[in-house]
Amino acid sequence: MPDKDKVNILMVDDQPSKLLSYAAILDELGENLIQAASGREALEKLLKNHDFAVVLMDVSMPELDGFETARLIREHPRFQRTAIIFISAIHLTDLDRVKGYERGAVDYVSVPVNPELLRAKVSVFADLHRTTRQLETLNRELEQRIAERTLDLQESEAQFRTLANSIPQLAWMADRDGSILWYSDRWYEYTGLKKEETGGSSWETRVDPECRDSVLETWRASIKRGEPFEMEFRIRGADGVYRWFLTQVTPMRDSTGAIRRWFGARTNIHEQRETRRILEETQERLILAQKAANCGTFDCDARTGVNIWSQELQEMYGFAPGTFPGTYQAWLDCVLPEDRGAAEAPNKQAADTFETEYRILKRDNNQIRWMNSRGHIKRDSMGKPARFLGLNIDITRMKVAEEALQRAHDELELRVQTRTAELRIAEESLRRLSGRLMQSQDDERRRIARELHDGLGQYLVAVKMNLDVLSMTATADSRLREHLADATKQIEDAISETRTISHLLHPPLLDEIGLESALIWYAEGFAKRSGISVKVDISPSIGRLQTEVETALFRVVQECLTNVHRHSGSSTASVRLSRYNGEMRLEVSDEGKGIPEGATSSAPGVGLQGIRERVLQLRGRVEIASDSPKGTTVVVTIPDAFQSATAYGSLPREATAFASEVESR
Ligand SMILES: Nc1ncnc2c1ncn2[C@@H]1O[C@H](COP(=O)(O)OP(=O)(O)OP(=O)(O)O)[C@@H](O)[C@H]1O
Ligand SMILES: [Mg+2]
Repeated sequence: MPDKDKVNILMVDDQPSKLLSYAAILDELGENLIQAASGREALEKLLKNHDFAVVLMDVSMPELDGFETARLIREHPRFQRTAIIFISAIHLTDLDRVKGYERGAVDYVSVPVNPELLRAKVSVFADLHRTTRQLETLNRELEQRIAERTLDLQESEAQFRTLANSIPQLAWMADRDGSILWYSDRWYEYTGLKKEETGGSSWETRVDPECRDSVLETWRASIKRGEPFEMEFRIRGADGVYRWFLTQVTPMRDSTGAIRRWFGARTNIHEQRETRRILEETQERLILAQKAANCGTFDCDARTGVNIWSQELQEMYGFAPGTFPGTYQAWLDCVLPEDRGAAEAPNKQAADTFETEYRILKRDNNQIRWMNSRGHIKRDSMGKPARFLGLNIDITRMKVAEEALQRAHDELELRVQTRTAELRIAEESLRRLSGRLMQSQDDERRRIARELHDGLGQYLVAVKMNLDVLSMTATADSRLREHLADATKQIEDAISETRTISHLLHPPLLDEIGLESALIWYAEGFAKRSGISVKVDISPSIGRLQTEVETALFRVVQECLTNVHRHSGSSTASVRLSRYNGEMRLEVSDEGKGIPEGATSSAPGVGLQGIRERVLQLRGRVEIASDSPKGTTVVVTIPDAFQSATAYGSLPREATAFASEVESR
């Protein structure tokens, strides 16, 4: 047996032989055998050694007998429970035994001693003592460990509190029934509560009243089931504002699995909740906007072909919820084959924004719908398209309206063209008619001029010739001679007047010598008649023009100078005729008051209108510039006005004789 496990056995007897015999008997137990030859020595040994498993005590000893020694031993608190076995050869009555037991004996052995019995008894007490000692050691160790653990626990709790105070969450600890034991400082800061106000379940008063019942119900259910608790609800702050917190509670169990504590943490998620709420509202608004605008959004990864569509877009393409495969190809399959080129054009373009239009076949009812697709291309580092983000707008109604509009426009256009053609034909016939009218007017003027000249003029000349003959053969009758002279004068005036009227109706010079001479002749006559000085400026190389051109230009000058005389109040007028870029250009101007605004529309005369008609017949242009006080300028331009050589040479010259006659007179 190792020394540390041996127990002390004290043998007390005043007879050394007995002590020897006890030692012999007990030796084989292998314990520490300590001898004392008297009661006093026994007490000394006990006090010295402290720990004895059993004391074998001789009852009859001089000075201090066994009973007295036992009483003294028992008085000492340390030895109150030390086993004492009395051994006696003489005190063997029951009275002695009772006395012995009263002194605290555990046994009373008579002499002669049965060695086996004594050994067995001592062995029992030795073992008992050893076991007790081991138990005490164990107990001490256990207590030590408990003390250490308690210290650890206190330390870890202190650490936990320090840690819990340093985190932004509102941390707390509750006992197994959920009654709050401790809060972190953040809780007091947030709620504004004092430490003495927040024990037990006072936290409940800070929970949003709207959800307080459901929070408490869930919390109690967690406590009952011993399960973690997690819930989002609002907690009132010191400022009276309720903010969203996520409360998470975990049970802490001991080695048997029983819940010892609840550890809780409340995380402020107010901003996340608010952000989430705003996001949800924005998304809701977006969905509503998409619905209202009949449009849907897409986000397609160009490399993987993953194509994410909004609910609205799926509906627009006729996909039942959750049936759109979410790929680029699935979209392309919906596009009409003949429109796929247009639909895929953004893949090849260089710009980062796109807009295309194409038709799709709706999946649910095979309807053809027009889509306007617009969006943005995100590119990778190589500049290749990486993502297409954008939206589709259903523009079918617009397209249908557009097509109907186009049809209506085309029909209208056709009708306008038909009407224009009809109008042109009518205008053309009107122009031809007016051309013929002017032509016949000119012809008539020419005919009347000739009739006046050839008919009336000739008669008047014949009458004058007769009067001349009569005058030569006249009598001396002075009254008759006077009458003849008077008649001759009147006939001469009539001849002159007839000639003037005839020439004004159609100047023979115009046909015979040309426009230049006719204009000079006319201007001189006009100046004489009107008193307006007329300057005529004609380019030298004009030559002869086509007959109808010459007639028209002469009539234009006639009308313009008449207008100067009638309306302008100008004392001068100028006529300029020039050839410019193969065109004839006639300009008649005055320095009068100008054409009053609206004069031509309010009281339209035939003069200017006639000029326009004539010029139009010859495919020319008329420009009238009128500006008070600068006067009025009428410019007429006529293309291709010149006679070809043959035409020039082949012109009729019937009036030649008449003209030369006129000039000679
Ligand atoms: N040189 C001019 N100076 C000022 N007013 C002019 C001149 N020429 C024309 N007008 C104005 O323009 C109007 C139209 O001229 P137009 O020759 O067409 O008609 P008219 O001379 O009034 O009548 P008609 O020529 O038929 O006898 C005139 O009434 C006159 O008011
Ligand atoms: Mg006029």
